[in-house]
Amino acid sequence: MFGGQMLNWSRASVRARRTLATGAVAALVCITISVLCLILVGSRETDMAQDRATAGWDRVEPLIKMGRLPAVLPDRKDGGFQAIQVVDARGRVVAATRQLVGKPPMAVFRPVSADVREARMLCPPAGLKGCMTVVSYRVHQPDGIWMIDVAVPRVPWYGNSTALLLAIGATVLITTMVAAGTYRVVSKAMGSVHAIRTELAKIASTGLDRRVPVPSEDEEIKLLAETANDTLDRLEGAYQLRRFASDASHDLRCPITAMRAELEEALMYPEDTDWPKTAEMVLTGVDRLQAIVTDLMTLAQLDAGAPLDRRPTDLGRLVGAELACRTYRVEIVEDLGRNVFVDCDRLGITRLLTNLVHNAERHAASQITVIVRADGPMAILEVIDDGAGIAPEHREMVFDRFTRLKASRDRDSGGTGLGLAIAREIAQAHEGTLTIKDSERGARFVLCLPVCRSFPAADPYCPAGSLTGP
Ligand SMILES: Nc1ncnc2c1ncn2[C@@H]1O[C@H](COP(=O)(O)OP(=O)(O)OP(=O)(O)O)[C@@H](O)[C@H]1O
Ligand SMILES: [Mg+2]
Repeated sequence: MFGGQMLNWSRASVRARRTLATGAVAALVCITISVLCLILVGSRETDMAQDRATAGWDRVEPLIKMGRLPAVLPDRKDGGFQAIQVVDARGRVVAATRQLVGKPPMAVFRPVSADVREARMLCPPAGLKGCMTVVSYRVHQPDGIWMIDVAVPRVPWYGNSTALLLAIGATVLITTMVAAGTYRVVSKAMGSVHAIRTELAKIASTGLDRRVPVPSEDEEIKLLAETANDTLDRLEGAYQLRRFASDASHDLRCPITAMRAELEEALMYPEDTDWPKTAEMVLTGVDRLQAIVTDLMTLAQLDAGAPLDRRPTDLGRLVGAELACRTYRVEIVEDLGRNVFVDCDRLGITRLLTNLVHNAERHAASQITVIVRADGPMAILEVIDDGAGIAPEHREMVFDRFTRLKASRDRDSGGTGLGLAIAREIAQAHEGTLTIKDSERGARFVLCLPVCRSFPAADPYCPAGSLTGP
């Protein structure tokens, strides 16, 4: 629980950290670009303000030269703000725009001798309100130097408020979008990582047969999941090999120990020993050893992918012929469809069938039913008995090597526990499946093999060659 909370927090914090970091970088980039743009706008606005000031000088300077300067200068035609004062050589205001009539000179500075004009920011210029840029122009007159002072509104560094609002809006929008996108992407990736971690935890506590989910997107996480699954494959293989080796040595050791004890006791009391009976018991042990070694060799061949001797075969006929070979302790009910052809290794399929029928015979109460039928592209072989059946939770386990359920071990039915493992490998080597399905009573083993559709036209019934139905 605590671990889960820690994990949730660390996941959330990874998400939050990534989102914050990316958002901060996006904000920084946007702010830098915005500031640069605003400085550009500001400098253009300043240039335009200077132009407006020069336009004011343009308006007034000819009037001075012509001696037709009115005491009240007209306002700008476009209605924009512009305050102008004309100061004569004696420092008196001789003309001004309306807002400066009767006011003292607004500029307290004068261009240094070399310059015709000089601009300064005054907060406020005399007679006006707020900060203004005041440009002072020098005009040469017969009685000395007159000044034309033009005040225009101060231009802030960002140019104007519209540009500032646009820049702020764009910065907030882009930063939010980048942060939200990052949050979504990281959340998705973290979700996949969480699913993989959860599955790995389950694998650690339950078994190596599970695999972690592989996401369809997120290439890196997909690779991580695939690598984890490959590692699990190899781990499971190594684990099964180890279990197989220890099971095999245990199963080989049991009959050897029993035979050895039997022989030692016989040699200790040779006169009291019933030698034929001893030989019979030792022979039983040898038979068991032989059965195990044969099964192990078969499995080794199947594991090594030994080539199958596959030939088109009428499955119904093959099964019928095999069932007819011997008598059974219980009744055999056959429902063997004909012309259900499969491309199979007959020895292998016979071996699979024998194991299923022997198992069924061991566990059946009174009857075994064997069915062969076609189902679309598949040939189906079913072996059903009326015994105790196999519980759903054991239906996969019985296909593991050396697995014998408790009932079989208690009964000491003499099996090695390799039969079903071999049978399933044979089915898979034929691109088929062998599973246990539900049934009303007893166990129902179902073999599915792909139907064989093509076989030599000249010998359409070649599978029947050496086989005869019951
Ligand atoms: N028809 C069945 N009904 C009930 N249990 C079965 C049936 N078939 C198999 N089993 C269970 O599955 C186990 C594994 O079967 P499998 O054929 O692999 O081994 P075996 O029959 O014990 O030995 P082997 O076939 O190697 O001689 C059996 O020991 C038994 O417990
Ligand atoms: Mg068996």
